[in-house]
Amino acid sequence: MPDDLIAEKSAAGTPSADAGRAAVPEATAASHAVDTATGAEAEAQVSMDRARSIFTKIARRYSLFNALSSFGIYKVWLRRTVKRAQAKPTDEVLDLAAGTGDVTYRICRDTPPARIACTDFTPAMLDIAKSRQVAESNGVPLEFMVVDAQDIPYPDESFDLVTIAYGIRNIPDREKALSEAYRVLRPGGRFVILEFSTPSNPVWRVLYHAYLNVMIPFIGGLLTHDRPGFVYLKNSINAFPDQEGLASLLRAAGFDRVTYENCTGGITAIHQAIK
Ligand SMILES: C[S@@+](CC[C@H](N)C(=O)[O-])C[C@H]1O[C@@H](n2cnc3c(N)ncnc32)[C@H](O)[C@@H]1O
Repeated sequence: MPDDLIAEKSAAGTPSADAGRAAVPEATAASHAVDTATGAEAEAQVSMDRARSIFTKIARRYSLFNALSSFGIYKVWLRRTVKRAQAKPTDEVLDLAAGTGDVTYRICRDTPPARIACTDFTPAMLDIAKSRQVAESNGVPLEFMVVDAQDIPYPDESFDLVTIAYGIRNIPDREKALSEAYRVLRPGGRFVILEFSTPSNPVWRVLYHAYLNVMIPFIGGLLTHDRPGFVYLKNSINAFPDQEGLASLLRAAGFDRVTYENCTGGITAIHQAIK
């Protein structure tokens, strides 16, 4: 594998192994783009520029924030997601919005597949993922690529498993991203989504929202000196569809056997769907 595989989509629409830093993708012709902070209809570029700017700023402290703000539960949710994904030794895996690589490396550790494409559209996040490769890949061949999940530069039916953790909420055209995941999966392939969701118990929901709306901007601001980034985080969680809403989007994208499982009373949910 080439040393530097942070590549960009080639003109032909297939990934190139360009050794240089990729151009950051621009918004594609979106069908149902929303402002990811409000849920209102808006140009995709607004949300994409904001997400890229936020994740570029917080990349170095992203893991620390995750661990502290979730009291470590984040790792439990992650492990459960990877267990549900059940990667097999022969599987080719695509990790979308992979950020600093937590899902990728957890798969490498727990259920090593044939290869993983570790992708994200913020180069600063992917740089950190790449820096973990030697210590954490467990011998699994990895490729790192700057990819917009709304316009995936792989041919149809290239993967057995597609994962996305805390990514779909940040994507303005969710229909497009889900149909792209569907397109690149082989028939029978699995799509697994880990995302913040909506607690069903009203008391738990009130407590959680109090924590989310007050403490998350406070802790995030303290750790990263980027309070607006964490105001965005809580707004995007508040604006994101609940468990059933996301399940409906998956069915509309063509997926079969759509199921979900709540974690910590529905603060997050793991959705699974089959092509
Ligand atoms: C909250 S982080 C999640 C990272 C990682 N999956 C994890 O579980 O830690 C969200 C990631 O989504 C990425 N992202 C946002 N919009 C995206 C898009 N349109 N395509 C691909 N990645 C995107 C951001 O760059 C960021 O790295």
